[in-house]
Amino acid sequence: MCACPVAAAAFSRDLFCCMMKPYTEKTVLVSGGAGFLGSHLCERLLSDGCEVLCVDNYYTGSKANVAHLMDNPYFEMIRHDITFPIYLEVDKIFNLACPASPIHYQFDPVQTTKTSVHGSINMLGLAKRVKATILQASTSEVYGDPEIHPQSESYWGRVNPVGIRACYDEGKRCAETLFFDYHRQHGVDIKVARIFNTYGPRMHPNDGRVVSNFIIQALRGQPITIYGDGSQTRSFCFVDDMVEGFIKLMASEPEFAGPVNLGNPHEITIKQLAEIIVDITSSNSEIFFQEIPEDDPRRRKPDISLARTVLDWNPDVSLSQGLGETIEYFQKLLDC
Ligand SMILES: NC(=O)c1ccc[n+]([C@@H]2O[C@H](COP(=O)([O-])OP(=O)(O)OC[C@H]3O[C@@H](n4cnc5c(N)ncnc54)[C@H](O)[C@@H]3O)[C@@H](O)[C@H]2O)c1
Repeated sequence: MCACPVAAAAFSRDLFCCMMKPYTEKTVLVSGGAGFLGSHLCERLLSDGCEVLCVDNYYTGSKANVAHLMDNPYFEMIRHDITFPIYLEVDKIFNLACPASPIHYQFDPVQTTKTSVHGSINMLGLAKRVKATILQASTSEVYGDPEIHPQSESYWGRVNPVGIRACYDEGKRCAETLFFDYHRQHGVDIKVARIFNTYGPRMHPNDGRVVSNFIIQALRGQPITIYGDGSQTRSFCFVDDMVEGFIKLMASEPEFAGPVNLGNPHEITIKQLAEIIVDITSSNSEIFFQEIPEDDPRRRKPDISLARTVLDWNPDVSLSQGLGETIEYFQKLLDC
């Protein structure tokens, strides 16, 4: 028995933890794990039997998103900004940390670029050191305002490098470059997912994204604001489908690095989306039109043939089903 009481206490606590927590095969780091997509991914990884380390600086995420996971002995929350290095021992890394909505990423554009660029360098450095496979949450915004439709991975994009969205778009493009250079130069196993519009419970209520905006306005009976004439199109993927795509991409053959589009190709106009939400919520809200913001893409629809072929992935939650779950979440939030 150890004579030092502090060491003895630490020893018995470690022993207790070992007894309570059987060995898991995979320790997975999720950066941005307290955000919308990250919290769903943490949940899924835990249910798949992984140990999950969640790193987040709570810039747009919240403890509330992961509060229900805190008692799980396989879940650990670390407050950390990924623009600074971190030393952990992990098998897999999902790099999701980055504000995703224009309101949030334009609030501090320099920090947004730093998160994509310095953050990726730090996460890739970690992956290199511990030989972990690392997945980057890239975005359809790398295509900018596209000239071709739908967008496939071979399209190089049309981004304004000096516009107000560039901190996000160019930051994510540079992150992709870093991922492929770490892969070619240092042999790091990478996976790059180009995520298209995703929605679902735990979206930030004030992030100005179209789905959350319309739902909250409809539930409050406020006017629904459409920027432009509402003929611009988007394709919306439910969060459960997206998380399934992340899991399948991470599990894909080591030779497959991507980039691969993940999104739902079902395309609707913004005006149609507003009408569907008014209909499901039985709202009295009227639709109003406002000036369209700078560099807002006209059309957005993923070509997901590559994901279908290589990952055998296909989103299967219908818009009405997904919106139903999302509306239920926001209704509870507003009732609180
Ligand atoms: N939701 C979508 O439709 C969508 C579309 C394309 C790409 N993405 C990408 O997916 C990822 C997750 O998006 P989301 O919708 O969950 O957004 P989110 O804002 O809810 O989540 C991002 C998380 O990253 C954290 N974060 C931000 N900067 C950080 C930093 N420097 N260090 C540590 N943590 C930091 C935030 O606090 C938040 O918890 C992002 O990288 C985003 O660019 C999302």
